[in-house]
Amino acid sequence: MSTDMNGTENMIFTKDLTISFNEKKVLNNLTFEVKTGEIFGFLGPSGAGKTTTIKILTKQLIPTSGECKVNAEVNEIGILSDNSGAYERLTVYRNLCFFAELSKTDKSKVEEILKRVQLWDAKDKKVQDLSRGMKQRVLLACAAVHSPKLLFLDEPTSALDPATTEAIHELLFDLKANGTTIFLTTHNMTEADKMCDRVAFLNQGNIVELGAPEDLKLKYAKNEVAVTYEDGTVEVMEKRAAAIAEVLQQNSKEIRAIHSHEANLAEIFLSLTGRELR
Ligand SMILES: Nc1ncnc2c1ncn2[C@@H]1O[C@H](COP(=O)(O)OP(=O)(O)OP(=O)(O)O)[C@@H](O)[C@H]1O
Ligand SMILES: [Mg+2]
Repeated sequence: MSTDMNGTENMIFTKDLTISFNEKKVLNNLTFEVKTGEIFGFLGPSGAGKTTTIKILTKQLIPTSGECKVNAEVNEIGILSDNSGAYERLTVYRNLCFFAELSKTDKSKVEEILKRVQLWDAKDKKVQDLSRGMKQRVLLACAAVHSPKLLFLDEPTSALDPATTEAIHELLFDLKANGTTIFLTTHNMTEADKMCDRVAFLNQGNIVELGAPEDLKLKYAKNEVAVTYEDGTVEVMEKRAAAIAEVLQQNSKEIRAIHSHEANLAEIFLSLTGRELR
């Protein structure tokens, strides 16, 4: 197990990880660690290099230069990506049994995980007859049936409805509570904020910021409040008691609301890169 200078255990460690395709650098000196037990969000727009990073960490691609270390054996890792597939003509239950057998996992875990992804009632359906959200849950169940030490999830909830997304989020929290470290890529900043202990912002192959969502929101908080008066006008002022008092003393208008402005992750990303996430 690798440890950093604070003695914290790391599940993933990279140093100056770089990859080029046809002379074009796609990842540029990525240095980061994923702590054991955390949900780590890897965020960035399309083409930023998220999937490429997962492919390197799971040994599907060899980096051009730099190092990476993953502290889990192949059989202790789960992956859900675009390439993940289930056997369409087999039932949900048979698919899960197949993945359980591969990882020498007890059959009892199949029932457990199917109940957790709310597919136990659909266990005898063929995968080809399932909705998109149900298929995605089958794939997640296959990736997690062996209670992996480390789970890579490449946009697990993209194009899912809110209820299915919520069910998947609950499962991920559940897996985390049972000790699984999760590496999650997403475009969805609300999802990242809710799910992740720490996030890295990836832009054109560079990590441009990394930290806990709440720390980033504080770091990039606008030092302003917006006062909305009863007449509908809004006045923005410095977020300091004396400054607010001074402005308010100078007018006699009735106040409807005062809001402080907390930056969200999407705004932070935009301010750092000038790019929207989608
Ligand atoms: N095998 C490859 N050969 C050449 N270029 C590649 C290869 N794999 C990825 N790329 C390029 O690397 C860049 C990053 O791709 P990647 O799939 O990692 O992005 P991503 O962040 O996962 O995007 P998305 O959000 O759309 O999934 C893209 O410009 C892509 O075209
Ligand atoms: Mg991708």
